[in-house]
Amino acid sequence: MFNTGLLKFRDINDKYGHLTPIEGKIDVPFEIKRIYYITRVQEGVTRGFHSHRKLHQVLICLNGSVNIRLRNSNDEEVVQLNDPSIGLYIGPLIWREMFDFTEGSVLLVLASEYYDESDYIRNHDFYLEEARKRF
Ligand code: TYD
Repeated sequence: MFNTGLLKFRDINDKYGHLTPIEGKIDVPFEIKRIYYITRVQEGVTRGFHSHRKLHQVLICLNGSVNIRLRNSNDEEVVQLNDPSIGLYIGPLIWREMFDFTEGSVLLVLASEYYDESDYIRNHDFYLEEARKRF
């Protein structure tokens, strides 16, 4: 889908385990200003239900698996994240919902900007109006 995509990071794998390095502007297409992680999501819970006006993000499932539903005004797609060396890039004006978090799953998010509630679009009808202008 336009403005989204999977990124493959290096997986440095030796007898001591796996290590994945991620550098801003090199491995992800933006400077990383903020990270956050989502853990201990109860069964049956869906999160997200928003898009951002300007924010760029990369989602990485460090443990377990989680499904991400991506939507714009025309398309819908579900991506399953279950590999710590894969990132899902989500650019501006993409609606996202996160669901089916497995027990013990950890979702890491890298973000291009500091937290700013005014960058969120949480109303889906308003989102569709904005997305139709763009896509
Ligand atoms: P939200 O982005 O709505 O979570 P999700 O999309 O995963 O359902 O954020 C949930 C709450 O956490 C909301 O009250 C805003 C707050 N929050 C911060 O204070 N800082 C942050 O960096 C993020 C991502 C959220």
